[in-house]
Amino acid sequence: MSRPKVFATHPLFAAPRERLEARCEVNYWTGAERPPRAEVVERVSGKDALICLLTEKINDELLDAAGAGLRIVANVAVGFDNIDVAACTRRKIVATNTPGVLDETTADFAWTLLMSVARRIREGEQLARGGQWRGWNLDQLCGADVWGKTLGLLGFGRIGRAVARRAAGFGMRIIYSDALRAPADVEQRLHAEFLPREQVIAEADFLSVHVPLLPDTRHLLNAAAFARMKPTAFVINTSRGPVVDEAALAAALEAGQIAGAALDVYENEPQIHPGLLRRDNVILAPHIASASVETRTKMALMAVDNVLARLDGKRPPNALNPEVL
Ligand code: DGY
Repeated sequence: MSRPKVFATHPLFAAPRERLEARCEVNYWTGAERPPRAEVVERVSGKDALICLLTEKINDELLDAAGAGLRIVANVAVGFDNIDVAACTRRKIVATNTPGVLDETTADFAWTLLMSVARRIREGEQLARGGQWRGWNLDQLCGADVWGKTLGLLGFGRIGRAVARRAAGFGMRIIYSDALRAPADVEQRLHAEFLPREQVIAEADFLSVHVPLLPDTRHLLNAAAFARMKPTAFVINTSRGPVVDEAALAAALEAGQIAGAALDVYENEPQIHPGLLRRDNVILAPHIASASVETRTKMALMAVDNVLARLDGKRPPNALNPEVL
């Protein structure tokens, strides 16, 4: 009997590879850069399953190129704004993501960014490494305190809550907004206060974004939001780039409307707005919030398990459109 055919747009890691290859014939994209679109379109043709990253746009064009045999598109990411799920559903293709396994790692990184921008680590590192440091000085690179401040969370799902949990050790006031209010026991446990979004934006000293990219959340942080923020406040974004209007953020920083920003995600990755690139009070990371070896391996394993379930005629554990089954 012929083995199911899979195209994976990345070589994955050893453990997921082994699990997948025990059952399937797998074609991997192994280039150092992300695959050109034409390559993805060509290689997906005739496959039973596609394992992709968030850099691949899964739309009608690609699904048509795959042909009628494609049964699953398994994204190795929790965010799935790169997938047209309705287009998958129309073809009875299951789309899956990797929720849960990256929450703590991403929350760690949101804190890494928060601390780095508050305490000017980028400038400090440059000074220390650059041979310009002339020794201790009283007013050298004074940043902002984190402890005792107000942490504002836009989005209070798994990752927002994991970020809130870490704030306890810093004695922070925690305020949040979300489309859905969290259950009372969660609010109590995390000492989190539910407020209207405008108020969270206005009262936060550190405003950390944890919403998915949806039509409603595109440019959630725009010029009007920055105008509402404290001039001493910082923005941290580990969710999706287009949630923040980058041009408006650059303008707000230039005008001194806010104190700084720390970003892992961008509107047009890998492009970064030039107004952000030139600023000292901005920390820029290359979309690595979930990038620990442990977590990225778990994400790939999860994608593989979704594929194997679908190929076995079972319900993939992380189906985004289970109605096709
Ligand atoms: C995701 O999973 O959506 C991240 O952006 C990559 O970890």
